[in-house]
Order: sequence, then structure tokens, then C-alpha cells
Amino acid sequence: MSFRIQPAAPARPNRCQLFGPGSRPAIFEKMAASAADVINLDLEDSVAPDDKPEARKNIIQAIGDVDWGSKTLSVRINGLDTPYWYRDVVDLLEQASDRIDQIMIPKVGCAGDIYAVDALVTAIESAKGRSKPIKFEVIIESAAGIAHVEEIAAASPRMEAMSLGAADFAASMGMQTTGIGGTQENYYMIREGVKHWSDPWHWAQAAIVAACRTHGVLPVDGPFGDFSDDDGYVAQAKRSATLGMVGKWAIHPKQIGLANEVFTPSETAVAEAKEILAAMETAKAEGAGATVYKGRLVDIASIKQAEVIVKQAELIAG
Ligand code: COA
Ligand code: MG
Repeated sequence: MSFRIQPAAPARPNRCQLFGPGSRPAIFEKMAASAADVINLDLEDSVAPDDKPEARKNIIQAIGDVDWGSKTLSVRINGLDTPYWYRDVVDLLEQASDRIDQIMIPKVGCAGDIYAVDALVTAIESAKGRSKPIKFEVIIESAAGIAHVEEIAAASPRMEAMSLGAADFAASMGMQTTGIGGTQENYYMIREGVKHWSDPWHWAQAAIVAACRTHGVLPVDGPFGDFSDDDGYVAQAKRSATLGMVGKWAIHPKQIGLANEVFTPSETAVAEAKEILAAMETAKAEGAGATVYKGRLVDIASIKQAEVIVKQAELIAG
């Protein structure tokens, strides 16, 4: 480990973030009753321009009125390139109850974007005497966002989570696809005449995980657009979990159970991790730094790997 110790990410479950348009208050109670760990009420791209003022009012009222249980409650504001975002922040923080936990800032491109929102939020919190500091989550969904991903992760102590937004990311990068996540028809290699599909989102996801883990932020996989394709969703989510992401968005309620299943370590995985820890305890007692578990090498690094799984399971159980 570097002399600078890697900070822990926030210790809260974030397996599924369920989205719903702020202009559709009829689903707010259903969102609150769902099994998602995080609720994202949207003011951005699922809300038409003329509906923004009404959506703000709906969300502000629902933050206070709906029983959100122990969920993390987040509101996605509009991007800093729009005329809407300052009013989103001002109205939310002047009028909403302090049940709101987070603001999600979309399309961030540099640390300065976070600085701007932080300055506004800090001023309103101070003016209004809000005692619960608002946390931030951001979406990396542009070429600039991924190019500056580390400075964004480090931009404010308010930073809690960072998601990859596949659709806007693809557009900004000039990618030849209209798909939102998942396998892309033309992204393949050929071996002995047979096509093998690779993962075009892999690099961006790994970059986000590295930036997040460096700065104690939760890395999250964003939306999967084809909500009729459960297998595709699960495959994408499993790849994300393998890379170190802690959860995934749901843009339809049927995706919530899929995300919770993938991002909750299985009983088998937890049992195996505990066996590895036990094997290493025995090795340590015998003065060895490495041993053999089920025919394979385990050593001091294996302890840390196993602890990731055990800690994640404990966090979710707790
Ligand atoms: N949260 C909670 N419940 C939802 C929901 C959501 N996001 N979307 C739909 N439902 C409910 C419906 O009200 C319906 O409930 P009912 O059985 O009591 O009638 C049930 O789930 C089935 O809905 P369905 O008819 O399949 O979907 P729909 O046509 O009503 O809505 C979408 C489909 C995609 C428009 C809707 O899911 C949606 O708005 N998703 C979020 C979009 C979003 O926020 N995007 C921004 C982030 S990318
Ligand atoms: Mg987007």
C-alpha cells in the first residue's frame, strides 16, 4: 500500500438505484415500497422542459410526504449547461425537508462543475440553517467526464457515488450505437471464423472504479435500456460487479430484483471467502504467509480479497 491509505467508501448498501420521472408522482409510493436501496427522483432527461417546474414541486412535496423508509433518497438535477439546474438546487434546498440525502449531478465534465454546485449548496445550507449536509453523486457520461474522472471523484467531501451513464457517454464519445449498455453487435473479435463479443463499456467502468476507490466513492453501473432483456441486464451487472462496482440502476421495477441478486454476494461466495480467511489464520499460526486452498494459492492478498466479499455481505445484512 502507498503511504496514503485508500479511504473506505460510504458504508451503505447501493445495489440498486431506482429512477422515476419527477413528472410522474403516481409512481413515487411504488418506488418507496420497492426493494431498491437508492431512489433517484428525476428532474433531468425523463422530464420534458415544460414540466420541469411541476416536477420540482412534486418532488419537494414527496420528499416530505412519502415514507421512504431507510432508503437513500436522491434527486437528479439538470446539467450545468442548462437554464434549469440552479433553480433545481435552490428550490430543493430551500423548500424540501431534510429527508433528502443526495443530489445527483449529471454530465459532469470537470472538478469545477462539482465546485460550482458545492458553492451554491453550501450557501443555501448556511442561509437556511440546514444541519444535514447534502451528499453528491455524479454521472460520468461524456468524453470530458471520463478524461477528468479522478479529479471529479476527488472534487468535494460531499462526493458519495459515481455512475456510468452509457447513453450520453456513447453519444459524447461518438460511439456507433443507440444501445444503452450491454453487448453491441459490431464490437466483436473473430477467432477461427467465430465471432466473440467483447465489452465496449469495460474501459470506462474500470476507470470509474479506479477513481472511486482512490477517493472513497461508490462506483455504480448506470442504466440498461432494454428492460425486456433480463439475461442481458444480469450479464452486464455481473461484469460490473466483477470489476468492483457496487450496484446498478433500474429504469423499470423489474430490474430491481435482478440488481439485488447480482450485487448481494451469494452464500457460496461468502462461505468460500470465510474458508479462505480461516485457512490463512491456520497458515499464520504455523508461521506461513501462503497456503493452499482447494488446490490454489492463497496468500496475504487473498485475505483482503476475501474481506471485500465478507464485508459487502455484512453491510447488506446489516
Ligand atoms: N418505479 C416504480 N414503479 C414503476 C416505475 C418506476 N420507475 N415504472 C413503472 N412502474 C410501475 C407502473 O406504474 C406499473 O404499476 P402497476 O402495476 O401498479 O400499474 C408497473 O410498474 C408496470 O409498469 P409498466 O406498465 O411495465 O411500465 P410503464 O409503461 O408504466 O413505464 C417506463 C415504463 C420506462 C416509462 C417507466 O418505467 C419509467 O419512467 N422509468 C424510469 C425512467 C427514468 O427515470 N429515466 C431516467 C433515468 S435513465
Ligand atoms: Mg444521461
